[in-house]
Amino acid sequence: MRLLVTGANGQLGHAIDAALEAKDAPAAYVDCVVDWVDLPDLDISSASAVDAWFVAHEPYDVVVNCAAFTNVDGCEADFAAAFSANALGPMNLARACATGDAALVHVSTDYVFPGTEPGERLETDVPAPISAYGRSKLAGEGLALAANHRTHVVRTAWLYGEGKNFVRTMLRIGEGRDEVTVVDDQLGNPTSAADLAHEILRIALTDDYGVWHCTNEGICSWADLAEAAYEIAGVNCRVRRCSSADWKRMNPQSADRPAFSALKNGHLESTIGNQMRPWREALEDYLR
Ligand SMILES: NC(=O)c1ccc[n+]([C@@H]2O[C@H](COP(=O)([O-])OP(=O)(O)OC[C@H]3O[C@@H](n4cnc5c(N)ncnc54)[C@H](OP(=O)(O)O)[C@@H]3O)[C@@H](O)[C@H]2O)c1
Repeated sequence: MRLLVTGANGQLGHAIDAALEAKDAPAAYVDCVVDWVDLPDLDISSASAVDAWFVAHEPYDVVVNCAAFTNVDGCEADFAAAFSANALGPMNLARACATGDAALVHVSTDYVFPGTEPGERLETDVPAPISAYGRSKLAGEGLALAANHRTHVVRTAWLYGEGKNFVRTMLRIGEGRDEVTVVDDQLGNPTSAADLAHEILRIALTDDYGVWHCTNEGICSWADLAEAAYEIAGVNCRVRRCSSADWKRMNPQSADRPAFSALKNGHLESTIGNQMRPWREALEDYLR
């Protein structure tokens, strides 16, 4: 098996690496050959660069796209850059995959939903993003699915792993302060990059193409997540809860985020089984 992992230096890229090395990696990956690539060696938003990369390498069986412009507020400020990385990028990869008959696993987000309805969102629910990041990611999903019939779109949420993420930021700033202010009226599913990587390797082995939701189980707010991280890590810092409206007043340039964007792993449940565990258990493992 030959794999290409794009965006390999990011949180999920690192987690895929660790998942392939782990003892419980699916057997199909034993002896697989993996090419790892990130900026500046391959910019997925350049069609010619993607095509040249695929011509220069042996044909791939599976391409896992972890590359993205993930700075949600940054996407608001530069939609052209967001669209290039998050929409044109997956389209370029999907086209190249289709030419070489490779499967594509493209990673997307809960932020494709507006977050205005109660209840966890299923793969069949209609997206309607409220941010530039969400719009660029939704465009990427559609373009990737249209360009290669062997595309898996895996939506995840509130990811933490090796790299910059909310949990790490909270721990860093919490070490030096008595109190931090965190939004408590946005609800979602914190998700371990390690757990997601494991599921992605299983999804990639199926021919059940289409959209998959893949998050750790359970729902909480950003404030709940910060409190849990402090409690588990033994950091003595209080969480002062604020509303999204208060946060927006303090940070007027920040992007709007869904109030309720929890996902249900319906596709996993109805096919290969949902192995995603409760978010707090995964967080404890991460912080250990
Ligand atoms: N992080 C979250 O909370 C979250 C939540 C839901 C969904 N997701 C999705 O999950 C996936 C993985 O996220 P992550 O947290 O692992 O992201 P990450 O840590 O930000 O890593 C993304 C990687 O992609 C690279 N990259 C950016 N633009 C690129 C381009 N045009 N060509 C090639 N590489 C490029 C980045 O390089 P630079 O660092 O140099 O820019 C970085 O190494 C993404 O699709 C993201 O949208 C993430």
